[in-house]
Amino acid sequence: MDPMEFINKLGWVPPRIMAVLERNLRKIPYVQEKIQGEYDGIMGDLENSLKPYREDFLTFSEIPAEGRGKEKILAEMQSLHDLEASKWQDGFVSGAVYHGDQEHIDFLNKVYALNSQSNPLHSDLWPSAAKFEAEIIAMTANMLGAEDNPDPKKAICGTVSSGGTESILLAMKTYRDFARDKKGIRRPEMIVPTTVHAAFDKASQYFGIKRIRIPVDENFCADVIATKKAVTRNAIVIVGSAPAFPHGTVDPIEELSELAYKRGIGFHTDACLGGFVLPWAKKLGYDVPTFDFSLRGVTSISADTHKYGYAAKGTSVVLYRGEELRHYQFYTSTEWPGGLYFSPTLAGSRPGALSAACWASMLTMGADGYTQAAKKIMETAAIIRKGVDEIPELSVLGNPLFVIAFGSDTVNVFRVMDYMTKQGWSLNGLHKPSAVHICVTLRHTQPEVAEKFIEDLQAGVTFVRENPDEEGSMAPIYGMGSSLPLRGVVSDMLKKYLDLLYKI
Ligand SMILES: Cc1ncc(COP(=O)(O)O)c(C=O)c1O
Repeated sequence: MDPMEFINKLGWVPPRIMAVLERNLRKIPYVQEKIQGEYDGIMGDLENSLKPYREDFLTFSEIPAEGRGKEKILAEMQSLHDLEASKWQDGFVSGAVYHGDQEHIDFLNKVYALNSQSNPLHSDLWPSAAKFEAEIIAMTANMLGAEDNPDPKKAICGTVSSGGTESILLAMKTYRDFARDKKGIRRPEMIVPTTVHAAFDKASQYFGIKRIRIPVDENFCADVIATKKAVTRNAIVIVGSAPAFPHGTVDPIEELSELAYKRGIGFHTDACLGGFVLPWAKKLGYDVPTFDFSLRGVTSISADTHKYGYAAKGTSVVLYRGEELRHYQFYTSTEWPGGLYFSPTLAGSRPGALSAACWASMLTMGADGYTQAAKKIMETAAIIRKGVDEIPELSVLGNPLFVIAFGSDTVNVFRVMDYMTKQGWSLNGLHKPSAVHICVTLRHTQPEVAEKFIEDLQAGVTFVRENPDEEGSMAPIYGMGSSLPLRGVVSDMLKKYLDLLYKI
């Protein structure tokens, strides 16, 4: 029997056994050849769509002998920009660009230009960068319950990072180093719901922290009882999301953080996505569970300014309860011949201009701007949710606020997504279970966008129902993660995708 067929027929096999089986099977030349053949086919198709500029634009594989004219470069950039902008500008993209009004962009660009030489690593040269970052942190902390902090001895503090992933990496490293120093924990464990962002797995891999995954309930929220059972003497932190990326649902942060408090371990709220929406939505009267520093067990929060903070891409905030904990994030070197060296985050030199633009975004938005934005987003999400609910073949997963995920028992939802892609939409494919989501941003609050989304979605479902035998273009690839038991094969494929991005 074909070894691939054999694997596919096995049904569920414990992941560890499957990994051993896979490692050995892949040593067989026939299997290697077969996998390579599959890769080549898929990569060939992907290459065409990922490299659209090869024909109409010059390609540079070495530094041009003579510098090109600035006008020429700018004109080329403008053409590339124009080719790409309309999709996100017109509200066809899930997430990605969260504000996107030209006036706001122009303002941030001006601020960036004024500060383009600034580097927070040299705080002596640019004390303005330190001012901007200190104030970004203070304003974010204030928005996320610092005033209601039940432990005034441990004031809320933090740092600015380059994005959600870096904030999460930093927080997990901080807990690891804190637990090693204070408790002698050498085999640290982080307890995370299955729906938590992949950045936590990245932290687990980078920093050698064992990841214990907790199931979610029928509403895609973390199971508190399973979490309780998972806490061992090596546990350093429990994590919950507000909300989680896949289904937009908020974990039971109150119960989870109280559990962490009672067990004397850290609790991190990942509010990368919701940090700048939920506080305002709550004030507007939406049913938003508490997730911030007003809960005594919450010891850190990540919140992305470059998402719903409406800053330019490249900033996020990670907050801690107390400077003592934050110290475990900082890096210092006293022995280096280059002099005394210290830096707060993963990078050394950093773009001060991005912090300046972030600070400026927060000031220009103001509490009233954020509140109005949250209102529009929540109202648009409600229209989309209702529209999806009214399509009998689809069902909304969980009880989301502004990220609407839907699946189907009767049609292949990835084929519906394929259809939507052909209509110009860019949505997110999810798996385990198979689903699609749209993360609602200010772009979708423009007139008629939500209505057009529902119209196209209905047409997509009808098309797939009436053409059940078509395979779809990307649908098989999205389905692969769930259907292929060979995780190594899928992982290799993703690495080849990344290789492809670096091909000129
Ligand atoms: C809940 C959540 N956490 C973390 C991240 C990671 O953020 P970034 O892509 O800025 O690294 C995201 C991104 O969408 C997210 O939704």
